[in-house]
Amino acid sequence: MSAGGEPDGQKGAAGPAGGRLVVVGLGPGEARFLTPQAAAALAEAEALYGYGPYLDRVPLRPGQARLASDNREELGRARAALAHAAAGSRVAVVSGGDPGVFAMAAAVMEAIEAGPAEWRALDVEVVPGVTAMLAVAAAAGAPLGHDFCAMSLSDNLKPFELVEKRLRLAAEAGLVMAFYNPVSKARPWQLDRAFDILRGLLPASVPVIFGRAAGRPDARTVIVPLAAARADLADMATCIIVGSAETRRIERPGRPPLVYAPRAVRGAAGGAS
Ligand SMILES: C[S@@+](CC[C@H](N)C(=O)[O-])C[C@H]1O[C@@H](n2cnc3c(N)ncnc32)[C@H](O)[C@@H]1O
Repeated sequence: MSAGGEPDGQKGAAGPAGGRLVVVGLGPGEARFLTPQAAAALAEAEALYGYGPYLDRVPLRPGQARLASDNREELGRARAALAHAAAGSRVAVVSGGDPGVFAMAAAVMEAIEAGPAEWRALDVEVVPGVTAMLAVAAAAGAPLGHDFCAMSLSDNLKPFELVEKRLRLAAEAGLVMAFYNPVSKARPWQLDRAFDILRGLLPASVPVIFGRAAGRPDARTVIVPLAAARADLADMATCIIVGSAETRRIERPGRPPLVYAPRAVRGAAGGAS
């Protein structure tokens, strides 16, 4: 179903005022990661809203309005896009990766919930994309082959004490962890603090994957043991995957290692399907 309640595979009719809002995931980088569904939604839109560098990735179509805004203005951008759609236009809001993963789809939902009734009558659709975690995992092997969780390490929208608590509980539960927003100029110490917490709970040999600019020409994957994991291996274009005690690293002659999570937990009866 789309968020507008329409059956899968059917394109939504425009809302009562003729407007339509689609939230589109662009994938992690190059156009080859853009799904055909996302490309079609972008081509149909009369107006595109998004963070400037993401809008720059969308092929230009004559007559299509582009409304770029700052990365920190997610709610304002969502409101502006909804108001534009409510006036009768076909509007797309773009996100890098998947729009539902630490991105614009939730901001649009927040705006709809708190906004005027006419926004709840709009046709709204979320078009998924390849999220950074999946592109980084694929570049390293299969580190998400068993149970995992994803967290934003940013404490802009939650206290860092909550991040610390979730790290401890995830480690205790044996989950592989993917970290988004791992570090920034305004948050210089939090990632090293996270590694320190995990070093107290997990084996020192657990592989940590630093995937930078996945799916882009300058993509880089660095894999180190948890004992050697440091914040200066990451920046805001990095997604980090921290393995669990079950995670395996296969060394290969002349090739990068493969990191994977076996499908079954050691000692578990039966196999994973
Ligand atoms: C605000 S979140 C947006 C996530 C995005 N919606 C997604 O699904 O990938 C931004 C964070 O995503 C991660 N990220 C986004 N693109 C990436 C890429 N191409 N390679 C590695 N990490 C990326 C980084 O952790 C970055 O700090």
